Amino acid sequence: MRFQDKVVIVTGAGSGIGEATALQFGREGAQVVCMDVKGAQATAERINQAGGRAFAHTADVSKWPDWERVVEHTIGSWGKIDALAAVAGVLSRTADTVIDQDEAEWDRVLSINLKGVWFGMKAVLPHMIASGGGKIVNISSLSAIVGIPGLAAYTASKGGVSALTRQAAIDYAKYNIQINAIEPGIIETPMVQGAEPEMARATIEATPVGRMGHPNEIAYMALFLCSDQANFITGQTFVVDGGWSAH
Ligand SMILES: NC(=O)c1ccc[n+]([C@@H]2O[C@H](COP(=O)([O-])OP(=O)(O)OC[C@H]3O[C@@H](n4cnc5c(N)ncnc54)[C@H](O)[C@@H]3O)[C@@H](O)[C@H]2O)c1
Repeated sequence: MRFQDKVVIVTGAGSGIGEATALQFGREGAQVVCMDVKGAQATAERINQAGGRAFAHTADVSKWPDWERVVEHTIGSWGKIDALAAVAGVLSRTADTVIDQDEAEWDRVLSINLKGVWFGMKAVLPHMIASGGGKIVNISSLSAIVGIPGLAAYTASKGGVSALTRQAAIDYAKYNIQINAIEPGIIETPMVQGAEPEMARATIEATPVGRMGHPNEIAYMALFLCSDQANFITGQTFVVDGGWSAH
């Protein structure tokens, strides 16, 4: 119960890695705010049914008024924010190479994956400063450090998430706030299940452990980075990829 009496916001909590992260926080005693454009209610209900404490917000991470609403309600209900796990993200719906990508879809991907992470930090940091500290973990991607075919806008967004994580960690270290990112390899979630089968096959072949990761295998790292066991870790990006980048 590492998170007893801790208040945690999890974005993307309706599916995949965010859902696993919210459920793990709930199991470890956290009061969990589940935030997603869809599915947040179902995850919050599972936490509450298991004896935990959670509420849901149907909210878009790329919209500043949505963040204001979520944070205001969280502070009004529970008085503080101890941690933010910024997990929400999307792949491009259209062909994502430099030549083929179109401007509107580029903007959508960057807006959710990168601006959404900035907004999340911008929204919670003043409350963490006021309460004497906090933890933020942003979900980036292995694509931030390894070139992966057909992921141009996505890679640009995740490179931004890793870089912004390092930068923000420097500015807020003096407030006892630790900010880190995770760079997952291939993880078995609806995001990947919707991708081309050849792409999934190729990424499993590139992964020395020979399988996709389970969402919990990212959630465990997220919880560690949000726990008191990680008080001396900040400004870092952690690859969790079954050995893909070890080649
Ligand atoms: N699955 C992988 O292999 C993999 C690898 C590296 C990084 N990631 C990253 O992990 C994160 C989670 O992805 P996942 O694999 O669990 O995918 P997923 O599609 O299962 O979950 C993503 C969640 O984000 C939510 N979301 C999308 N746009 C949103 C918005 N504007 N506001 C709020 N919520 C929004 C979706 O509704 C969904 O519930 C993403 O940031 C993704 O880029 C995934």
